[in-house]
Amino acid sequence: MAFNKVCLVGGNGNLGTILLNGLVAAGDFTVTVAKRASSKSTPGAGSSVEQITIPDDMNLAGLTDALRGQDVVIASFPLVDVNQHLRLVEAAALAGVKRFIPADFGSCDAASPNARRLLKLYRDKDLVRHKCEEIAAANPAFSWTALVCGHFFDFGFHDGLLHFDLENKTADILDDGSVRASASTLRRVAEGTVAALRRPEPTRNRTLYIQSFCRSQPEVLAALERVTGVTWTRRTIDSKAFLEEASRKLAAKYDKHTMEEIVFVLGALEADWTKEEGFAMELLGLEDEDLDQVVAEVVAGLGK
Ligand SMILES: NC(=O)c1ccc[n+]([C@@H]2O[C@H](COP(=O)([O-])OP(=O)(O)OC[C@H]3O[C@@H](n4cnc5c(N)ncnc54)[C@H](OP(=O)(O)O)[C@@H]3O)[C@@H](O)[C@H]2O)c1
Repeated sequence: MAFNKVCLVGGNGNLGTILLNGLVAAGDFTVTVAKRASSKSTPGAGSSVEQITIPDDMNLAGLTDALRGQDVVIASFPLVDVNQHLRLVEAAALAGVKRFIPADFGSCDAASPNARRLLKLYRDKDLVRHKCEEIAAANPAFSWTALVCGHFFDFGFHDGLLHFDLENKTADILDDGSVRASASTLRRVAEGTVAALRRPEPTRNRTLYIQSFCRSQPEVLAALERVTGVTWTRRTIDSKAFLEEASRKLAAKYDKHTMEEIVFVLGALEADWTKEEGFAMELLGLEDEDLDQVVAEVVAGLGK
């Protein structure tokens, strides 16, 4: 079995843009982007990418109709409303889609009890994963693959998630900085996705863990100092106190920034995929990227 028709939902997004490029460049898929009816986005404009429209409210019947004929559906849009994601899985199965890739792509793993305890985001991702499992168990024609990649390394610099401030040359290091964490460039996530789709059987109904590299925060800081030629200011953060404070703030009032502060810690302290049974670098034919080279690209602004 080989997958041909691949439909990407969220092809205009931070990750979706890079996924779309990767899928098209792979050359072995017919790629379609599904965008919401009222969306002004123009993903894949001027290329061979087909566009289909899905209803704004992502109702089940409309999604099912739109997805007929697709082999693969990839969800790459935010978990603003988990019900949209749950309906998308259901609609994919009803439409005869063979492989579903949920909007996992996590900084940390939704299987982590700590991540689920701290953030609705991971409880939601876990719900979607369970929905995939449930549907695949009842319908063997349907299958899924979830990709967990750690922090988006290049994107995380530019949006502040990683707490390495390129402009002011400051770095926030958690505790003694001894913990290593996997992280992935956006292009690595695209490579991992393409590689998984090219290997339908060994990637069937599994969560796979990928990375560009697995390094401690001080190791990344040292690379930044080598590349920029400047000694950075290093600040130490007590992760326990930081998490407690952020959790207290979030419980009082939801805000995206505070949520992402918790993601920052989880992705730095609970994301060593090299220890996971589903660590899939070899399976997917991927090798670690060179840290200094990636850091140089980020510093030059190429990682944007
Ligand atoms: N590991 C990490 O560090 C990290 C960081 C960020 C995100 N992620 C994950 O990566 C995946 C993609 O996230 P992203 O940040 O790339 O997404 P994003 O940029 O926010 O995606 C936005 C696109 O999704 C589509 N969309 C569909 N339903 C939507 C809705 N209800 N609200 C907003 N947009 C909607 C829109 O396309 P149309 O307008 O064309 O319909 C929009 O252009 C998610 O699974 C997310 O959790 C991981």
